[in-house]
Amino acid sequence: MSNAPMFQGQSLLVEKIDNGYAELRFDRQGDAINKFDAATVKELGQAAEALKKDGAIKGLIVTSAKDVFIVGADITEFGASFQRSEEDIVGWLEESNKSFSAIEDLPFPTVTAINGIALGGGFEMALSTDYRVSSSTAVIGLPEAKLGLFPGFGGTVRLPRLIGADNAIEWIAGGEQQKPDAALKVHAVDAVVAPDKLRAAALKLLQQAAEGKYDWKARRAQKTGKLQLNPIEAMMVFSTSKAFIAGQAGKNYPAPLAAVSAIEKAAGKGRDEALKIESQAFAKIAKTTQADALIGLFLNDQLIKKKGKAYVKAGKKVQHAAVLGAGIMGGGISYQSAVKGVPVIMKDIADKALDLGMEEANKLLSKQVERKKLTPEKAGHILSTIRPTLNYGDFKTVDIVVEAVVENPKIKKSVLAETEAQVKEGTIIASNTSSISIDELATAVKHPENFLGMHFFNPVHRMPLVEVIYGEKTSKEAIATVAAYAAAMGKTPIVVKNCPGFLVNRILFPYFYGFLGALRDGADFVKIDKVMEGFGWPMGPAYLQDVVGIDTSHHVGDVLAEGYPDRMKNTTGEKTALDVMYENKRFGQKNGVGFYKYETDPKGKPKKFADPTTYELLKPVQKGQVDMSEEEIIDRHMLPMIIETVRCLDDGIVETPTEADMGLIMGIGFPPFRGGALKYADTIGMKTILDKCAKYAHLGKLYEPTESMKKMAAEGRLYFPK
Ligand SMILES: NC(=O)c1ccc[n+]([C@@H]2O[C@H](COP(=O)([O-])OP(=O)(O)OC[C@H]3O[C@@H](n4cnc5c(N)ncnc54)[C@H](O)[C@@H]3O)[C@@H](O)[C@H]2O)c1
Repeated sequence: MSNAPMFQGQSLLVEKIDNGYAELRFDRQGDAINKFDAATVKELGQAAEALKKDGAIKGLIVTSAKDVFIVGADITEFGASFQRSEEDIVGWLEESNKSFSAIEDLPFPTVTAINGIALGGGFEMALSTDYRVSSSTAVIGLPEAKLGLFPGFGGTVRLPRLIGADNAIEWIAGGEQQKPDAALKVHAVDAVVAPDKLRAAALKLLQQAAEGKYDWKARRAQKTGKLQLNPIEAMMVFSTSKAFIAGQAGKNYPAPLAAVSAIEKAAGKGRDEALKIESQAFAKIAKTTQADALIGLFLNDQLIKKKGKAYVKAGKKVQHAAVLGAGIMGGGISYQSAVKGVPVIMKDIADKALDLGMEEANKLLSKQVERKKLTPEKAGHILSTIRPTLNYGDFKTVDIVVEAVVENPKIKKSVLAETEAQVKEGTIIASNTSSISIDELATAVKHPENFLGMHFFNPVHRMPLVEVIYGEKTSKEAIATVAAYAAAMGKTPIVVKNCPGFLVNRILFPYFYGFLGALRDGADFVKIDKVMEGFGWPMGPAYLQDVVGIDTSHHVGDVLAEGYPDRMKNTTGEKTALDVMYENKRFGQKNGVGFYKYETDPKGKPKKFADPTTYELLKPVQKGQVDMSEEEIIDRHMLPMIIETVRCLDDGIVETPTEADMGLIMGIGFPPFRGGALKYADTIGMKTILDKCAKYAHLGKLYEPTESMKKMAAEGRLYFPK
């Protein structure tokens, strides 16, 4: 029927379809997707009003005209929305919830046809109807916890009443995306059908409900009534899940626990009361620094991906690659390239190294087969696309060579020159060096415009970041091609201007120097690790140095000392704790002893424990022992890191605060809920940081704020304006 729509908005419309039924179709104008911004929520309420008024409608089907159903709330609105007072946020939520409840209260049955992504607010929309039919390709879930939030459009009310508190808590606290079959299993959806059958199946269900074959009123009563749990069940579900979630999420991620508390508090209430409880709890959580940082992180991630896409457009597609060196890194890079569909020649000078490289790739592929992520045939095929070799035979066919031989400038330079003579014109040559200047290495090649750094992290298959480092002469096209290749390998490229330590190590080492200073002044390394892990780091600085390798750390430290002598060179004439570890060949996890001692447990996992010898060895380089406060430990580590991040930004090493912060999160595991060093600075406030810097001014230049920091404080500016 082509009657005029009953309601037409910018994001959705309502029209009558055949036989007395109506359709509410999400079709956001001028956009490829549907999302719930404030305007759309308002339109939903108006649509419900129009539907209610009609009087002759037998049932409603809710659909989408896009590939997605509704991707969720409009996260770009969160920053400004959550600046408002708690009271205002509650008001906004209560107003929004009226739209969803109005759909739920329509005087006829309602069915959502979920055709694609239905996350967050999108799934909450579907929950407000009586039934849900899902395409087998849909993506369902309530991922708000990943943003430091929980569902605020009725998700914590309707989902537990529909699928049980235990299942709902798992969905909401975990924030994972759900497959349609899993959703069907817990009755979050009523049917799953092939995409081309979706509309017909949803309409059929609607018709059957309207004809009384299904008791839609009972279904609705279940969602709008109290949660059906007896007191003993309730106690079991809530107390066990709270204990579990507290252990999993930890104190730094308060949202999941707050969601469970809201569900519990609202359990004995009907929908409207329960929604009020949800709104109040949501407003509290929306004001946390964690939510602020995690929302920022999500937006930063999108920005970085956008940049990545632009590089893919501007660069040449790498069809065939070569890797020099089949060691830890070369082997990993070859594997990653092959797995993502770019065949690779892996060259080494030693047969044994090639065997080891292939063995490692085989091991990783077998694991994927075990986990049923790959068939044995596919794994076999991937392995066959890594070709080990001892010579330059087919190097003329490759578009890029990634050099990952030993970290020695002389060897690297000769290998690079030798390689350039073997490849066709225009081939990009990228070095995976972790510490040698790209401009210095570029002097070895005739075409420095085709040469740059491509810094992977260990283990390559797991670490998401690749620093793409350009030298003075690197061409824009070479940068774009390498960034595009990194993206094709499933990695996130961040483009960095050449400087000692590049981005990540340059910022990490001042943090390490903060650590060495705290040790010198008598702090206990075990306590430091505990405090910094409590702050949110995956491992404390002593443990991290052991994992990186004390020898590696020592070597990179030398490079940085030379690069930034004013603040990273030890000019005291006294040894540091790192020197002591290094001189005693305590290289860390790799040789079983560093700051900690390592033993393997029966499962073959390394276990660490504090070694009394470490304390003995450190005594001569420590000024007695002090019980340093948590705050001092945190400040002594974090201030040098923040300042160096600012310096990188000021020096144009990265273009934006987003790239600096994302580099730290992806490269060294900066606590995500703090958003990165610059976001952390925004959170505590630049004035406070300057005060702290003044307090530690006696510790030297590492604690000296930059002019730009003083200016930011004076002008009250943020790195990430709201
Ligand atoms: N291991 C890490 O954590 C890490 C992280 C990032 C970057 N890197 C960098 O990656 C590079 C490789 O490091 P690695 O840890 O894989 O070292 P590795 O010692 O495990 O491997 C180096 C390999 O290069 C081979 N090789 C030496 N000369 C060669 C030549 N002329 N042609 C071909 N192969 C040659 C060696 O036989 C060896 O197999 C270094 O520049 C290092 O700084 C290492």
